[in-house]
Amino acid sequence: MPESVRILVVDDDPSVTASLSLLLKQHGYLPVTAASPEEAASRVRGERVDLVLQDMNFSRSTSGEEGLALLRTLRGLQPDLPVVLITAWASIPLAVQGVKAGAADFVAKPWVNAQMLQAVETALGLAAAKAGAPAPPSDRVDLDARYALGSLAGVDPKFLRVLELAGRVAPTDASVLITGESGTGKELVAEAIHRNSRRGSGPFVKVNLGGISSTLFESEMFGHVRGAYTDARQDRRGRFEVAHGGTIFLDEIGELDPSSQVKLLRVLQDRTYEVLGSSQTRTVDVRILSATNRDLPTQVASGQFREDLLYRLNLIVLRMPALRERPGDIPILATHFLEQSARAHGRQTLTLTQAAAHWLRAQPWPGNVRQLRQTLERAVLVLEGDILDSSHLRALAELGAAGERPPSLPTPGAMTLDEIERAMIERALQQFEGNLTKAAEALGVSRTALYRRLQKHGIEAR
Ligand SMILES: Nc1ncnc2c1ncn2[C@@H]1O[C@H](COP(=O)(O)OP(=O)(O)OP(=O)(O)O)[C@@H](O)[C@H]1O
Ligand SMILES: [Mg+2]
Repeated sequence: MPESVRILVVDDDPSVTASLSLLLKQHGYLPVTAASPEEAASRVRGERVDLVLQDMNFSRSTSGEEGLALLRTLRGLQPDLPVVLITAWASIPLAVQGVKAGAADFVAKPWVNAQMLQAVETALGLAAAKAGAPAPPSDRVDLDARYALGSLAGVDPKFLRVLELAGRVAPTDASVLITGESGTGKELVAEAIHRNSRRGSGPFVKVNLGGISSTLFESEMFGHVRGAYTDARQDRRGRFEVAHGGTIFLDEIGELDPSSQVKLLRVLQDRTYEVLGSSQTRTVDVRILSATNRDLPTQVASGQFREDLLYRLNLIVLRMPALRERPGDIPILATHFLEQSARAHGRQTLTLTQAAAHWLRAQPWPGNVRQLRQTLERAVLVLEGDILDSSHLRALAELGAAGERPPSLPTPGAMTLDEIERAMIERALQQFEGNLTKAAEALGVSRTALYRRLQKHGIEAR
């Protein structure tokens, strides 16, 4: 019951504690206040507190050291107590430090009420989820009894643990970052989180950030009004507006260029944005899911990805295991796809022989589940009987290997992969007369990704 949820508001500015208390009371929480770190600590020692909202600066100091010290004290007193930091916009790096030290979240000052409430609710929800069910599911039946995750096949314990976490955090509004190699099911799990959330009947909007150029980013994400720029002949609804009341899935987040990262950070920070060409500020109610097959901490270390943005996205991280890490699931997934294909083509049940299952398990699957799925779909198309054997799969693989072999590749040893990459990029640039967008498209990478490779190889872009 919200009535019994006690929230401690810590700030030395009485106008802040007063307005936050009022806001919390209006939404059914029980606020208590403290004007100093000492008072806050003594309250947490002496009474029940379910969540702390704390400022970072007390007295005259603006270094944030006092705030960090209080956070550490509170963590020491009660490690499970969620602490949400309130920081000035200019001191976001401080907030990032706070999150590393164990804060549940941070809200920038001046805050937007809806955003403040969402942060409080999410932190409480996550704390409850943590306290509620730390026991991993004992098996698939157990998992399916708890959550609707039937679209994701598999029984490997590592995989079940990921699904269990997905199910557990689904009802909260927490941002979830989904990582993993290509084809491991990142998008599928994002959809499943949405469906298992209270936003499930609202929109699920997927945006592929690898495919949006930095010039179009704002108009695509925030929309524009007619006449905002030369080509804007009509009003256009941005993706955030379309996702209002639901979930936005930011796919390939690691491809985002620095200027777009700043623009995205702002809307994630306080859930407000401006439509291009209009001065009106809009507030959006949206849950953020994102995915990448890159290692974002490495990108942060090399300066390609903003650390503050990462901490906005990765409240929860789900790492999808590669298929080779869960080989026991290969026959299960194969049977799953066989059934799907048979149904789609109105065919009898198809059976996978032991030898076929064995053969499938022995393959490396660099393209993960997607590649496995495509392999089985192709097999069903050419299969005449109802039994899929290893001989069919082997024949298909040989056929595929012959058909897909690109013309005249150099003999291994003649060139390194790096040199081939460089040569291929130069050819693409030549063919498209230096047009990066077209070259990137032809090479099957985003513009940003191409840019990075140009830098890596020291190629001058014209
Ligand atoms: N556990 C699973 N059960 C059933 N189908 C799956 C599973 N995992 C992935 N798939 C299927 O495999 C294909 C690839 O999945 P998905 O698009 O979610 O991968 P991804 O990680 O987002 O890949 P990419 O990084 O290339 O975007 C889809 O057709 C999806 O339905
Ligand atoms: Mg994907």
